Amino acid sequence: MQKFYIETVGCQMNVLDSELVHSGLVQSGFVPATDHDNADVILFNTCSIRQHAEDKIYSALGRLKHWKTTKPYGILGVIGCMAQKDQKTIFQRAPHVDLVLGPGQLELLPETLHQLLEEKLQQNNTHHETESGKKLLVSLKRLEYRHAEVIGSFRLFNPVRNPEARGNRFQAMVRIMFGCDKFCTYCIVPSVRGPEQSRSPQEILKEIRTLVNQGVVEITLIGQTVNSYRHKNSEKTTSLADLLHQVSAIEEIQRIGFVTNYPRGMNNDLLQAVRDLPKVAKHLHVPAQSGSDSVLQRMKRNYTATEYRELVDRIYSIIPNVSMTCDLIVGFCGETEEEFRQTVDLVQYCRFKNSFIFKYSERPGTKSAELYPDDVPESVKKIRNNMLLDIQDKISLEQNQQFIGKTVEILVEGITKQLETGGVQLSGRTLCDRIVVFDAPDNRLIGQFLKLNVYDAAPFTLFARQSCSVGNF
Ligand code: 5AD
Ligand code: SF4
Repeated sequence: MQKFYIETVGCQMNVLDSELVHSGLVQSGFVPATDHDNADVILFNTCSIRQHAEDKIYSALGRLKHWKTTKPYGILGVIGCMAQKDQKTIFQRAPHVDLVLGPGQLELLPETLHQLLEEKLQQNNTHHETESGKKLLVSLKRLEYRHAEVIGSFRLFNPVRNPEARGNRFQAMVRIMFGCDKFCTYCIVPSVRGPEQSRSPQEILKEIRTLVNQGVVEITLIGQTVNSYRHKNSEKTTSLADLLHQVSAIEEIQRIGFVTNYPRGMNNDLLQAVRDLPKVAKHLHVPAQSGSDSVLQRMKRNYTATEYRELVDRIYSIIPNVSMTCDLIVGFCGETEEEFRQTVDLVQYCRFKNSFIFKYSERPGTKSAELYPDDVPESVKKIRNNMLLDIQDKISLEQNQQFIGKTVEILVEGITKQLETGGVQLSGRTLCDRIVVFDAPDNRLIGQFLKLNVYDAAPFTLFARQSCSVGNF
């Protein structure tokens, strides 16, 4: 039996795609390998969002040349966003790669791998170096052809979920929509993930029931702009707020989250559903990207900084004790000191729990690459990045310090450390997405809801001690 190994970088979309590919490959007779060395197939699930992510993949692929010499009949594949964006370049820069398949064509993967392995085995039998070289070329051409056939159709890949493919048995992501129609000027996602497509609520709920039967108690609904979810049939239109109500009605599900939101479209129906449904996380990730109107305009984000502030005010006033997180880009094309200062002001105003801060990275093929020079020097991007991180860290710490002396309830997720004294450090999250760590004798609490007393805080972590268990799942 052929063994596969998947290496994943990038966002939650990729983590979920890797899980689905794992499930699909197992269904079609492959077996997971524990590392590169005992794999017959290595797949890289790649990210294109920033240049740095792509550079790292090319060096990793370079290192695998050695693996190919030890395993000439092994298959090295590249999947994910970079595969969609750069098919030809990947074959040119890493000629030892056998297969390149984008995120909208993953359903072809199991069959294609079987076919490639078979062809390589035939090469092995004939020992005709030149012949085998040709055969491989033919198979790659066929792949390119197939790729072209389905390109633009970005099909959903939905093999039956397999608990073995997940990090843990009681948490799972469910994709509710695919793609993005927003076309922010800096972003490559719409061209590699295709147009927005929402899955039907029936299909989503069916998948969640399968997950429940596998022991899942926490569901995260995911989509590139998850709050754009909208499914129409002849009778009615289902929104994300409707879906939250429907998922909440599933008794076994204890917690529900959703990422990632687009600021426009955070309507009151959705905010009220978050407030009123006790199982829904009191945490909203709503990327602002910048606090400057002129930058937001160049980014084509379709809102002003004032509108974003009003949204934040509305969120804090509708949902008590909600936490907010944000994505921000520093050093976008033409960003002046004044424009950057407006982002600092926004961060100070919004009191995010955490922010994910990125230095602008020009992506060929995007509107900003075409329209504006990437003219903020790397050194300035770095300074702005660090400044904003420091400011956010202080806010995160201040917020977390408010929990000292309080009791929080967490779902225990996993082990963070083995303790020298014996026992383990476990971690989990509160309903408002704060990470809490505590010491325990062993890992038996994983998957349970627990109440803990917080005795210390850092910007990303609350430190707590056990009080009493409030439920077993
Ligand atoms: N450069 C830097 N950051 C980017 N992001 C998206 N595209 C780019 C880019 N070209 C960031 C945005 C987005 C997050 C997932 O990645 O902040 O919300
Ligand atoms: Fe990219 Fe903008 Fe779509 Fe988010 S909303 S995936 S940043 S284009």
